[in-house]
Amino acid sequence: MEAQIESLRAEALAAITAARTAPDLAAVRLKYLGRTGAIPLLSEGMRDVPKEAKASVGKALNALRAEVTSALEAGDRALASAADEASLAEVDLTLPGIAPLRGSIHPLTQLLDRAVRIFRRMGFALADGPDIETEWHCFDALNTPPHHPARNELDTFYLPDGRLLRTHTSTVQIRTMEGQPPPVRIIAPGAAYRRDEVDATHLAQFTQMEGLYVAEAVSVAELKGTLEFFFQELFGTGTDIRFRPHFFPFTEPSFEIDIRTAALGERWMELAGCGMVDPAVFEAMCDRRRDRVYDPETVTGFAFGFGLDRLAMNLTGVPDIRMLVENDLRFLRQF
Ligand code: PHE
Repeated sequence: MEAQIESLRAEALAAITAARTAPDLAAVRLKYLGRTGAIPLLSEGMRDVPKEAKASVGKALNALRAEVTSALEAGDRALASAADEASLAEVDLTLPGIAPLRGSIHPLTQLLDRAVRIFRRMGFALADGPDIETEWHCFDALNTPPHHPARNELDTFYLPDGRLLRTHTSTVQIRTMEGQPPPVRIIAPGAAYRRDEVDATHLAQFTQMEGLYVAEAVSVAELKGTLEFFFQELFGTGTDIRFRPHFFPFTEPSFEIDIRTAALGERWMELAGCGMVDPAVFEAMCDRRRDRVYDPETVTGFAFGFGLDRLAMNLTGVPDIRMLVENDLRFLRQF
């Protein structure tokens, strides 16, 4: 038996060395280790080995099996690395490479990133909310009554279930106050939707940046200071900023902000709406939250909102707002 083991060992190892391809090696594996292979067959002979010799013969059989198995594995590895080398031999490393295409950042995104960075320096955190909103978050909670023109079916995209595409990011003011007590200091950039006829200066989907600051004794002076600082950081210190009285249902008093700066061609441009959060909005929050943390007798706040698309257009000299969304590479590569 021991002589048989020894000759099987020599034969198997020689066959492994001789195998040149993976299928050769697989055939060797089958021949020696397969279910009816030579080694299992030999192992069946254990039955006839005298008792005293069983231990040493068993040991020799196990050693044979282990040695053949590891020689097969080594053979697999050698074949695989030979195949790797062969495939690399055909690669000409001196050929020039393919330059990766470099993308660029969309002008709207560039403006958004800059705006976000300025507000973050002033301690504003990013907040967001869904584009598909309830009428309550978009209008009722913002003191906008059912007969208000903004709620008109001709101005707003309503879904069959009564929800709508938010017409402004002011919904995030409500979402944020629902979810946390004051103080609140957030900005919320995002999409807004209106049923506008699409033309060179209008899109049905555009981008707004909302802001909200609520704490004890927030004043109009802080509103002015914050937005003046923001626009001067954005456009440079030579920027003139003008606050004009205006009306929004959810702020009182309300203002529109006009900017005059070299970057925008030195003419006044209406850029943003803002104001002090209307007490009616705080009352709606108290009702909703069933607490008084937003009691208008204890907290005040300011809010602002502006569109980014037209601003990006004016800053970059883009003549038609639709270019911002057409994804034409000839346009996008310019930024
Ligand atoms: N939501 C207003 C708009 O879309 C802008 C605004 C935001 C005004 C916050 C006041 C306060 O026109």
